[in-house]
Amino acid sequence: MTTSATSAPSTLPFVIEGQGSATEHIGRDSATIHDQLTAHGAVLMRGFDVGGAEGFEGCVRALSGEPLTYTEQSTPRSRIKGNVYTSTEYPQHAEIPLHNEMSYQAVWPLVLFFHCVEPPHTQGATPLSSTRKVYELVDPAVREEFERRRWMVVRNYGEDVGIRWWTAFNTEDRSEVERLCRDGGVEPQWMEDNGLRTRAVRDVVHPHAVTGEPVWFNHIVLFHESSLDPAVREGLVEIYGQDGLPNNTYYGDGAPIPDDVVDHLRQCYRQAATRFDYERDDLLIVDNMAVAHGREPFTGPRKIAVAMSEPSNSK
Ligand SMILES: [Fe+2]
Repeated sequence: MTTSATSAPSTLPFVIEGQGSATEHIGRDSATIHDQLTAHGAVLMRGFDVGGAEGFEGCVRALSGEPLTYTEQSTPRSRIKGNVYTSTEYPQHAEIPLHNEMSYQAVWPLVLFFHCVEPPHTQGATPLSSTRKVYELVDPAVREEFERRRWMVVRNYGEDVGIRWWTAFNTEDRSEVERLCRDGGVEPQWMEDNGLRTRAVRDVVHPHAVTGEPVWFNHIVLFHESSLDPAVREGLVEIYGQDGLPNNTYYGDGAPIPDDVVDHLRQCYRQAATRFDYERDDLLIVDNMAVAHGREPFTGPRKIAVAMSEPSNSK
């Protein structure tokens, strides 16, 4: 498949080195940091004192208001304090493919924050890819097909597969789940054994919330069954069927997306990716529409706190 030249910025992330309180620095310079975030897609503050979970929340508030609650979740996380969470608790030998947070929902956070509490011994970076660049790298025929057919996310919440629906939706009331689904353009289907299946059809390309530039913003790769370990994929499909996997993605009309198409998209993200090694107390601020993030496998303790802010429907 062909690729084309790109015009995305090369400084990803933009690095601000300094010292003293991170919260105070952001408070003094929030307009400049917002501009840098828009220009580059991600800002790394290094050398500052974040001040633990409390200080981290203060940094979020100083730049972009109240941190958001993690809803309709897809991965295990723990709450550290308030709306500060651990990064996805996923086996450390596994890579998490590049993606945009909550791009399978009708509303998503516009800004993400990562705080390095404890750096890993090796790897464990948060690789970053410009979604403008990914958009330009995707084969035009593939892109046009997705723009026309859109994409569908199918999720299953069950006793023994995926996350339980009452955890994901933060309620045990089925009618409340149905209301949340309706509001979010999601079609719910109650299943046997207290299970829930949801379907939603979304756009693959969105205009960026600030710049209006087209960005590749969807969960097609991360949620597609080809992103599972091959042995796990085979086992789960055998037991639950393709429609019964915790997450899977299709064309918007429900037709399967061939593995080689998803692999092409995966390569585009990788081709656009940059990385840096975390240092203790790094604060990484990411424009969630402009930049996709992932996680390298790692060794060592690695503790990264995350928070999200600025819901997309607030703009
Ligand atoms: Fe993520």
